[in-house]
Amino acid sequence: MQTIFNESQTRVNLMRAFAGECQARQRYYQAALIAQQQKLIGIERMFRFTAEQEERHAMVFWKDLKDSAGMTVDIAAGYPADVFDDIRQLLDASAAEEEKEHGIVYPDFARIAADEGYSDIASEFRMIAEIEESHRKRFEYYGKLYREDRLFRSDDTEQVWLCLNCGHIHKGSEPPQECPVCRAAQGYFIRECEAAFTSCETLKQ
Ligand SMILES: [Fe+2]
Ligand SMILES: [Fe+2]
Repeated sequence: MQTIFNESQTRVNLMRAFAGECQARQRYYQAALIAQQQKLIGIERMFRFTAEQEERHAMVFWKDLKDSAGMTVDIAAGYPADVFDDIRQLLDASAAEEEKEHGIVYPDFARIAADEGYSDIASEFRMIAEIEESHRKRFEYYGKLYREDRLFRSDDTEQVWLCLNCGHIHKGSEPPQECPVCRAAQGYFIRECEAAFTSCETLKQ
């Protein structure tokens, strides 16, 4: 038996999730701006890429609230004030938030939605929780590189680096201080394996 939507806890949880995703999106845009100011363009793009995904998550939950259209849904929830200027803190705080969403908040929401008879919504919470886990890994990966001062340094002398500005490829333990093609600063370089669409040639026909 399905609980009446406008009396359900799932409806409240959807609004909490919507608020949380909108805030995550905005936090990551803010973090992207800080990274841009520090000329860490790879980190900036990574935050923007993730922010866009949070926006899509928000829309999934928003659409589920259609049966409450025109109503006000009251929620009580805590949200992080991760107002940092330090990239390391931004990456660490973002990873910690993702961990909470994946490990506690969305599994809880999924269980309640299933109990209330909303299996489709339960499965959305579960699937988005898995995406948040991939976000956590991404933030931790960059947090580790940043902490260990390895964003632009590798032990592999054959490391392939990609200029995010013009696509120039450089091989070596470090990317150049300045791209020889477009003159973009070193902060535009990322490891090729970190870039979208760069592994296309590995597809077996
Ligand atoms: Fe999300
Ligand atoms: Fe996320």
